Amino acid sequence: MSSLRDGSVMSLDQSTSKPHERLADWLAGDLAAVGDLIRARMASRHAPRIPEVTAHLVDAGGKRLRPMLTLACARMCGYAGGDHIKLAATVEFIHTATLLHDDVVDESAQRRGRPTANLLWDNKSSVLVGDYLFARAFQLMVEPGDLRVLDILSNAAATIAEGEVLQLSAAQNLATDEGIYLQVIRGKTAALFSAATQVGGVIAKRDEAQVQALWDYGDALGVAFQMVDDLLDYWGSDATGKNRGDDFRECKLTLPLIKAVAQADDQERAFWRRTIEKGRQEEGDLEHALELLARHGALEAAREDALAWAGKAQEALTRLPAHEIRDMLDELAGYVVARVS
Ligand code: IPE
Ligand code: IPE
Ligand code: MG
Ligand code: MG
Repeated sequence: MSSLRDGSVMSLDQSTSKPHERLADWLAGDLAAVGDLIRARMASRHAPRIPEVTAHLVDAGGKRLRPMLTLACARMCGYAGGDHIKLAATVEFIHTATLLHDDVVDESAQRRGRPTANLLWDNKSSVLVGDYLFARAFQLMVEPGDLRVLDILSNAAATIAEGEVLQLSAAQNLATDEGIYLQVIRGKTAALFSAATQVGGVIAKRDEAQVQALWDYGDALGVAFQMVDDLLDYWGSDATGKNRGDDFRECKLTLPLIKAVAQADDQERAFWRRTIEKGRQEEGDLEHALELLARHGALEAAREDALAWAGKAQEALTRLPAHEIRDMLDELAGYVVARVS
């Protein structure tokens, strides 16, 4: 894994096929229906700013990973109705709303390879259009008339917000440990992954053991996914469509940083105090931070953790009946640890 030290993490992906693209092919019809529903529901009769801002983000693509998970799990569980389309669209609406809010909170300038909505319009538009999309998500999740589904998805929306707020309180605090980090990412990211997979099994009326296995898969996949996203913030290429170094600039204690801080000597600690605790950053600090992360093997260690979570996701799948989609979900778990985009 020493090759990762020189920033060649991205080369892992160039030759590998992408399971999420194969899943997308398998689910093409369903995904098109989800896309149509998203377009229909992002409309607003009275405020043209809403579809403008939303289309800016929606037209830029995105991997559609979360709606794919709902569709895939529903299909894998033999669901034959039509509510999975609404639930997949709900999940993507929640995701899109959180991205609009997240880019305001993180003061991010780039998303999906485009300038962020907060940069192109303003923070006010991003916050309010995000609120609108959340409300649209709630309208959609009610439509299947299934209280359990409503419970799962509304809880996920609350848990995401909790995770983001917990992260806000943990920023600049060098005492933030891996336990708190895990709590943050389980909230802000894994909660939507696990809700997305779980509702697929719930609408297909699978038994509790299988619904639990689906939840476990989504949870572990989400954790692995965010751990990798946090690695890419230091080592990623432009292919992520986001700015590198955002987390450092925002003084966030993500996994690689937590691992490096834990091994810091006095001089290094002084550096982290100035740049992260006090937030006084200068030209060249990001590069120095990268050197320290490399010195302590923090990337390799964080990547090992992500791999272990991907392994947990794959273990959960073994508790489900054999299926073509199950195999693709298994590959997906392996892929998120080596993904570019
Ligand atoms: C971005 O998620 C937010 C995180 C949880 C890291 P994705 O990487 O799935 O974003 P899109 O939808 O593909 O742009
Ligand atoms: C992703 O948070 C989770 C949510 C959007 C709730 P991040 O801030 O880590 O994700 P990116 O890197 O901006 O996509
Ligand atoms: Mg962000
Ligand atoms: Mg954020």
